[in-house]
Amino acid sequence: MENKHLLKTSTIALCIFLFIQQVQQILATATNTTRKAPAILVFGDSIVDPGNNNAISTTIKCNFPPYGQNFPHHLSTGRFSNGRIPSDILASKLGIKDYVPAYLDANLTEYDLLTGVSFASGACGYDPLTAEIMQVLTMDDQLKLFKEYKQKIKAIAGEKIAEEIISKSYYLIITGADDLANTYFTTPFRSNYDLSSYIQLVVRFASKFYQDLYNLGARRIIVTSIPPIGSIPSQRTLAGGIERNTVPRYNEAATTCNSELQKEIQRLNHTLPGANIAFQDMYTPLLDIIQRPSAYGSFEICNKSFGCCLFLCGTRYTQEMQSSASAINNRGQMVPVTFYVKFLGFEVSNRGCCGTGIFEVTLTCNSYTAEPCKDPSKFVFWDTYHLTERAYNILINKLIAKYGLN
Ligand SMILES: *[C@@H]1O[C@H](CO)[C@@H](O)[C@H](O)[C@H]1NC(C)=O
Ligand SMILES: *[C@@H]1O[C@H](CO)[C@@H](O)[C@H](O)[C@H]1NC(C)=O
Ligand SMILES: *[C@@H]1O[C@H](CO)[C@@H](O)[C@H](O)[C@H]1NC(C)=O
Ligand SMILES: *[C@@H]1O[C@H](CO)[C@@H](O)[C@H](O)[C@H]1NC(C)=O
Repeated sequence: MENKHLLKTSTIALCIFLFIQQVQQILATATNTTRKAPAILVFGDSIVDPGNNNAISTTIKCNFPPYGQNFPHHLSTGRFSNGRIPSDILASKLGIKDYVPAYLDANLTEYDLLTGVSFASGACGYDPLTAEIMQVLTMDDQLKLFKEYKQKIKAIAGEKIAEEIISKSYYLIITGADDLANTYFTTPFRSNYDLSSYIQLVVRFASKFYQDLYNLGARRIIVTSIPPIGSIPSQRTLAGGIERNTVPRYNEAATTCNSELQKEIQRLNHTLPGANIAFQDMYTPLLDIIQRPSAYGSFEICNKSFGCCLFLCGTRYTQEMQSSASAINNRGQMVPVTFYVKFLGFEVSNRGCCGTGIFEVTLTCNSYTAEPCKDPSKFVFWDTYHLTERAYNILINKLIAKYGLN
């Protein structure tokens, strides 16, 4: 009896201690103004498009609710999620800023330009045909805008500072999923290629893009791998049969394409003087989140008078924790407290939060015909293609933990 009680008390004390440590960590990071790079410049598809597609005539848009519902006033910026996207999260981690705006946003300030923008366009791929089918910006179009951008920052900051921004900034490239998921597997437009020759074609376009970007002055380049497209809700619906199973053939295609991209990037990293091009594996951590959603969560133990504390993943929840525990009251006395326990973590990873979750994306995910789920933090996917803000946060943090921020 006595021992049991002690155990419970120390668990709560430990938990409060952990909580305080976390808060201190967050404050230290937030007030740390050391920047790891002057700016971040982003290229790619909807994973990193903060609203460029708002400004072009395409149906691949999401500047309406429920997109953006995590933002103040539920602002639908054109980001393909309920909140921040990977480019925003990485920019925060680099100490640059919390949101990377769209280059085609009409209201950019000089500060926005000097600290970096995104040229990404939802539904594009390395293969220019992928963007052309959907009437969005190709990777080449994005490079043209980047050239224009360089002229603008020269005019603002002068030649010397502009050069420094260009050579010292982070370049983030996320695309390729739509080449396989849309163009190759879903449309007939590349049916004259078999899978392996299509992958060769994608890698040739990708390599040309990296070299062009290098020739325009980029040096620190991060390329992420193609995600497990066979496990995303849209492809389960399209090709996963009546049970909406994962589509192994699609995941194998992504894996093959990734290993070819990786080889090419390693080759370029060695042959282009001064280049630092990193290929980061996004496939493996994302597949793990999809396959083991409940591993990405924590238990929250709350009592209205005493507040909440978190038991992080891996903690075994026992009935005792809920039925009784102790806490220190404001007179310094240890008192028994009744708590309730909530599991905060992913519960659904095979469909999106928006609507039925099996087909809603962009225009079909709108607040007129598709209500979002009640608690998006329980969903890995926001719509049938894109992750929720919580899932993006976890994914990017995993990448940073593995690869660092150099
Ligand atoms: C601030 O950032 C710099 C550079 O990343 C790091 O060396 C330093 O430890 C950070 N300081 C704190 C208080 O986190
Ligand atoms: C840009 O500014 C104009 C004029 O101030 C405003 O009407 C418009 O809503 C702004 N657009 C965005 C995307 O913020
Ligand atoms: C790429 O090259 C840089 C040197 O320019 C080197 O520091 C880095 O380790 C290389 N990265 C890979 C993945 O080979
Ligand atoms: C909080 O703990 C106190 C003391 O045990 C208890 O009376 C109260 O009902 C608890 N509140 C909740 C919401 O569980």
